[in-house]
Amino acid sequence: MEFKAESGAGRRTRTDCAIVGVHEGGRLAGSGPSIDAALGGRIARIAAAGDFAGRLGETLLLPDLGKGPAARVLLVGLGSDKNWSRRSYRKALTSAAQATLKTPASNALVTFADAEVPDADTYYRARYVTEQFLHVAYRVPVIRSGKKPKAQSLDTVRVIASPTELGDVRRGVRDGAAIGTGSSWTRDLANLPANVCTPTYLAHAGGRLAREHRTVRCKVLSEREMRRLGMGSLLSVTAGSAQPPKLIVLEYRGRGAKADPIVLVGKGVTFDTGGISLKDPGGMDEMKFDMTGAASVFGAIKSLAMLDAPIHVVGIIPAVENMPSGTATKPGDIVTSMSGQTIEILNTDAEGRLILCDALTYSRRFKPREVIDIATLTGACVIALGSHNSALMSNSDDLANGLLAAGKRSADTCWRMPLAEEYQEQLKSNFADFANVAGRDGGAVTAACFLWKFTDGLKWAHLDIAGTAYVTGAAKGATGRPVPLLVDYLLANLG
Ligand code: BES
Ligand code: MN
Ligand code: ZN
Repeated sequence: MEFKAESGAGRRTRTDCAIVGVHEGGRLAGSGPSIDAALGGRIARIAAAGDFAGRLGETLLLPDLGKGPAARVLLVGLGSDKNWSRRSYRKALTSAAQATLKTPASNALVTFADAEVPDADTYYRARYVTEQFLHVAYRVPVIRSGKKPKAQSLDTVRVIASPTELGDVRRGVRDGAAIGTGSSWTRDLANLPANVCTPTYLAHAGGRLAREHRTVRCKVLSEREMRRLGMGSLLSVTAGSAQPPKLIVLEYRGRGAKADPIVLVGKGVTFDTGGISLKDPGGMDEMKFDMTGAASVFGAIKSLAMLDAPIHVVGIIPAVENMPSGTATKPGDIVTSMSGQTIEILNTDAEGRLILCDALTYSRRFKPREVIDIATLTGACVIALGSHNSALMSNSDDLANGLLAAGKRSADTCWRMPLAEEYQEQLKSNFADFANVAGRDGGAVTAACFLWKFTDGLKWAHLDIAGTAYVTGAAKGATGRPVPLLVDYLLANLG
């Protein structure tokens, strides 16, 4: 799908589908009135007659309009003026995209992207159009015999811009397309079953990305190399698996990037059975999503490469499978991490932190200006925050505030939770430097506090995306989060 900025709407406009935003009470948003004038006031009459109430997300398709500016018009409810916000704007876009994709239109024109929104400027309004259309148009990779999914007819979406804001709209659709494409790749990788998406598969995906973009390099460390580096904690997680572990290092350096890198570390557990501390069977299939942190690092770097963003970013992806077997790590086993600190593994299901701690230590060789790890780390995070916010923990207020702000701007929000010594005390062990679990209470925080022990001298943040990375139920699948948050943050911190 292609996205373009279009200056104004009027008699000369030609489109398969004009998408017109209507508020409750009948007011048309943005360039809606110009389209309606070209249609002889038909939309205003429909609203006045009560055939379209303008409730948020409601849609009405007017097909067969003959010769005028639009072969069809899609009315989209924007809700009350009083509640008009970034949230209602994005919700209206989602409905608009869903309804447009059901029509045979091959191009569409969004005529309300130039309407003022209290908490979204021109750039973001255009960016959201692109992101939402790509999000809705996304189809999961379905492995079904025979059936082929129906091709989508929509290939071009144009976004209305007032002539003075054409530049901002162009930037918005360009960045939105890159973020949308990156997120879609993240979703693809995460949605694949674990018998396809193994650590080796992820390593090949990294290689593919490096072949597609001259600015990306990919290096993959084998088990032997990890052993030589002393990654005893990471390797303990893979001890029961027949799949070889991989440490994937992606380096993106955009033209003109001179600063030390920002390192992104993504949890890549391609399947988490829990190991010997085996999980309950109900819903265990969802543990194929336990590599979404890794997938979001792939997606974010893909977005940056598409944009040629002048920034230096290193992605580190520890990719392993957590399985029980005769060779698996047992509760009570003690391992030595790459940092030299010893860990008593009291629960083999708390494996994310065991691979991330060695990846964090490894990140030091890149002299990072900042390190951000992204992980579906704890069920406790889902209990604490549900599916709307990722959890954010950081040893730097500056980094935390940057991520919180990027989350708001990109509508991919996170919520800060504490790090504190008191929680770290819960990790004490009778036999090693500390244990890998600290009991049920404050589970998301104690997991972050475990990682904190490996970040001395680093400016570091942790994102627990267990609640935001995928949805369960009928629409089960990856969301592509937190790619919008990460890319927004990185674009605001070029160098
Ligand atoms: N991958 C899980 C966390 C998870 C759980 C993500 C549910 C998404 C949904 C992680 O490896 C895990 O098993 N964590 C344990 C930690 C516990 C043993 C301290 C958990 O959350 O139960
Ligand atoms: Mn686990
Ligand atoms: Zn896990």
